[in-house]
Amino acid sequence: MARDPVPTRSEFEAEPRELLNRGGRRNPDVYRIDRDGEPLVVKDFAPRSALVRATIGRLVTRREARAWHRLAGHPLVPAFRGWIDSLAFAVDYRPGLRMSRGLAGQVADDFVERLSEGLDEMHRRGVVHLDLRHRSNLLVDEVGAPVLIDFGSALCFRPGSLGYRLVLPLLAAIDRRALRKWQRKLEPRT
Ligand SMILES: Nc1ncnc2c1ncn2[C@@H]1O[C@H](COP(=O)(O)OP(=O)(O)OP(=O)(O)O)[C@@H](O)[C@H]1O
Ligand SMILES: [Mg+2]
Repeated sequence: MARDPVPTRSEFEAEPRELLNRGGRRNPDVYRIDRDGEPLVVKDFAPRSALVRATIGRLVTRREARAWHRLAGHPLVPAFRGWIDSLAFAVDYRPGLRMSRGLAGQVADDFVERLSEGLDEMHRRGVVHLDLRHRSNLLVDEVGAPVLIDFGSALCFRPGSLGYRLVLPLLAAIDRRALRKWQRKLEPRT
């Protein structure tokens, strides 16, 4: 019988998992797991203190999951797979390397263009990422294409709302500045 797409809490804790990133006091641990042959990433606040779990753990997890939902089917964003519980959720794992200047020769010719279109589409859906300057949140996949991850700082605005029309364009400029930063870093050095 096919299992649920994401593990239960007890399956998640009992089965093998690879730690990708150990969170600090106020961040989730990030794991890679295998679910019926498919690699998934789980972000989990459960190991944090009771105070963090009851407050920002729950809130940040819910806010991040909202952004992943809004971006379902977005070409640069791995798919949201489901909740483990109110402190952890799973998304598809996409193999890739963290963005850096050193990848200049490995990215696709239209990398910057695709990233730019991807940001436009994300903003159209009412999501601003806000942490794309950080190299750990932009991956380069096996064919040199951009992958957007880590919506832990993202904000969502309902399309058509006042915030969507007035605030989102101001915040979207932060994402576009990050794009320009990566564009500069990828330019051949003269
Ligand atoms: N969907 C994914 N596919 C592949 N790798 C991923 C995925 N999600 C996260 N990772 C890897 O795990 C790392 C940490 O994930 P993420 O950035 O979401 O967590 P974080 O708590 O914000 O960590 P940090 O503070 O380092 O940014 C990423 O930099 C990336 O290397
Ligand atoms: Mg991150």
